[in-house]
Amino acid sequence: MVAQRTFVMIKPDGVKRGLIGEIISRFEKRGLKIVSLKMVKMSRDTAEKLYEEHKGKSFFEELVNYVTSGPVVCMVIEGDDVVQVIRRMIGNTDPKEAPPGTIRGDYALSKSENVIHASDSIEKAQREMSLFFDKSDL
Ligand code: CMP
Repeated sequence: MVAQRTFVMIKPDGVKRGLIGEIISRFEKRGLKIVSLKMVKMSRDTAEKLYEEHKGKSFFEELVNYVTSGPVVCMVIEGDDVVQVIRRMIGNTDPKEAPPGTIRGDYALSKSENVIHASDSIEKAQREMSLFFDKSDL
């Protein structure tokens, strides 16, 4: 297996609820490497770029308003098959469908305020991490 890197973001509800340590701890205990990490208050422009695939959908405005409503914690995480491994650790987008033991399955109920985001492919990971991190951060 070749080590991959992915982009992960603890959303404003996760930060407000004091879940940063718990979430990072899960990734570390799983054996994944935190390559870079920062807390930012995202601009509208960055939020619209991050979620550009959802532009035009009914929830787009709500999503952009929400992710810009408070600080988020952005991370680049490395490990074998990390894109897939982290998507499984996070659970379904709709937390009501996410199994217990997953981050959303343990800490969320709302589809819009679902604690965490992670890239769903290596290509998206590259694009999403470039919105928040310079090459020198990595
Ligand atoms: P995320 O993994 O960050 O990727 C896109 C986000 O859009 C998703 O998590 C949800 O928070 C949000 N989202 C997807 N579908 C809906 C929906 N039907 N209503 C509100 N928010 C949604």
